[in-house]
Amino acid sequence: MTATAQRNAFDNACPDGKAAFPRHVAIIMDGNGRWARERDLPRTEGHRKGVDTLRKIVRHAAKRGIGYLTLFSFSSENWTRPEAEVSFLMGLLQRFVQRDLADLDRNNIKVRIIGERTGLSPDILSLLEEAETVTGKNTGLVLVVAFNYGARNELTRAVRSIAEAVSRGEVAPEEVDETMIASRLDTAGLPDPDLIIRTSGEQRLSNFLLWQAAYAEFLFPSSNWPDFNEDAFDEALAVFAGRERRYGGLSGQAGG
Ligand code: IPE
Ligand code: IPE
Ligand code: MG
Repeated sequence: MTATAQRNAFDNACPDGKAAFPRHVAIIMDGNGRWARERDLPRTEGHRKGVDTLRKIVRHAAKRGIGYLTLFSFSSENWTRPEAEVSFLMGLLQRFVQRDLADLDRNNIKVRIIGERTGLSPDILSLLEEAETVTGKNTGLVLVVAFNYGARNELTRAVRSIAEAVSRGEVAPEEVDETMIASRLDTAGLPDPDLIIRTSGEQRLSNFLLWQAAYAEFLFPSSNWPDFNEDAFDEALAVFAGRERRYGGLSGQAGG
């Protein structure tokens, strides 16, 4: 049995075969620009409003008892946007950490950042590190922020680190397995996402969690991220609860 199959057999041990409650929800927060355009506002207003939604959804997910919430905040490809938009987004991140970190900490939320760190400016890097350090001992919701994240970049770094270990003689090629690869990804130690939500109606992954999404359930609500809210999140949980996850097995198998 592969490591994926083993883990899935364990995770799917819900008696009626239904998916029930997701341990890990990941969200591609998309549609800020379109939200603004529909209102004749600059795209930056959509991003500003998007942070309000982010704040609401983090609180709500914690209240609902979600264990892990991953938010795609900036992709490794988003650097190709106009410089003014990129620097606005960097400023938003800065302000978010400065204004919200204490509150996240008070709510026992633990922040974890995934994505490429090499090449980030020292001030951004120190903010990310501060967020992880300040909240490091918390035991509540794990808030995973995907920043400068691209799954192919993540996989490339993981493959390179294994290749280096092999060339140093620390790892034999036949020892390379799913567990080792997963342990070299930025998400090491985190469970795979059970549910991936992408707002704005787009139905693609855009280089998000390619490895980890192997058996995720997907939901594509049509609302743009600034319009997404607590009710929409609850509705997503309800849809998820009705999904049957089979992991390549047969219907109802997990129940015996
Ligand atoms: C998502 O909204 C936020 C980021 C990618 C940073 P977009 O900015 O992609 O909004 P649309 O897709 O152009 O509407
Ligand atoms: C994905 O959205 C990245 C984030 C939400 C941060 P994009 O808007 O960048 O993706 P594409 O370009 O539509 O695929
Ligand atoms: Mg977009």
